[in-house]
Amino acid sequence: MNTIESQNVTDYPNSNTIFTVWKLNEEPQLKNVFQELCALVLNLNNSVFNRFPDSRASCVMGISADAWKKLNLPNPMPKELSDFEEIKGVKHTAVSTPGDLHFHLRADNKSVIFDMAIEIAKLLSSVAESVLEVHGFKYWDARSILGFVDGTENPHGEDRDYFAKIGDEDLQYKGGSYLFVQKYLHNMDAWKSLSTEDQEKVIGRSKENDIEMSDEVKPSNSHIALANIEGENGEELKIVRDNMPFGSPSTNEFGTYFIAYSSTFTTTKKMLTNMFVGDPPGNYDRILDFSTAVTGTLFFVPTRNMLDEFSG
Ligand code: HEM
Repeated sequence: MNTIESQNVTDYPNSNTIFTVWKLNEEPQLKNVFQELCALVLNLNNSVFNRFPDSRASCVMGISADAWKKLNLPNPMPKELSDFEEIKGVKHTAVSTPGDLHFHLRADNKSVIFDMAIEIAKLLSSVAESVLEVHGFKYWDARSILGFVDGTENPHGEDRDYFAKIGDEDLQYKGGSYLFVQKYLHNMDAWKSLSTEDQEKVIGRSKENDIEMSDEVKPSNSHIALANIEGENGEELKIVRDNMPFGSPSTNEFGTYFIAYSSTFTTTKKMLTNMFVGDPPGNYDRILDFSTAVTGTLFFVPTRNMLDEFSG
């Protein structure tokens, strides 16, 4: 590979997704297995692209700061890679939870990602433990289980690359991406006890048609009022979100797997601070009264070129 080739961090949400998180054990064969894993990730992507070109299938691997150290990966680390530090507001906390490797598997066809997940597990199980597995799916017209369309204000076109991938500010890791994930559980009984009008005030958009409220009407503690942030010169700061709903009606567990790729973790962190601490502090995001973050981990997504190097 001569040009920089990123992993597939900018594709649009697909119909089916499997997210897995693994914790690495300090086994003697860890380094070898990791080399094989990097080769496997490249192979899986090439293979599904060739076999199922219409399935928009991909496997994206992220590596945490802890794993970077365990695996003796190059020094210095990507500039903003570190353990996520919890963000505590007056009422809600963005918790920090451990995880070494994150896999984001996407395809229209679930069989494709199911088999990819099997191959990854087969290789990793001798050196790692699974700490999380979430199967997300496209719910109606890209709605979260809360019933609102999720993803509308995501960047498009070249902006997706600009906001998702590291640029010249960290040349060694150019084309990589910061991946931040949180598993949220929704309190659906409390949510359903709100009228549609009150739910719309929580999000800041209309439910059926997904239209943004005007600034005069939109509450300052609505989700989009707090998540929509600007830089010092008034420029919009964005991230590429690929949230997926998941749920189990028989156990009454419903949620959103929040996943964002960004060129700089600072943007995601600022959004989280606005949501959990509030702006001004105390004016926190009302969506958190109905959605609890039970995980929170930061990863770095190396380019395909880096995976090639790591594979030995
Ligand atoms: C917008 C849902 C967590 C960042 C939205 C929208 C929905 C939504 C329905 C409006 C449509 C859209 O533009 O996508 C959720 C749910 C979450 C969640 C269900 C978890 C329970 C987060 C988190 C962040 C975030 C943790 C950032 C760290 C954003 C941003 C927007 C947005 C940047 C677009 C704001 C704008 O420019 O209008 N979200 N979200 N969301 N969300 Fe979230």
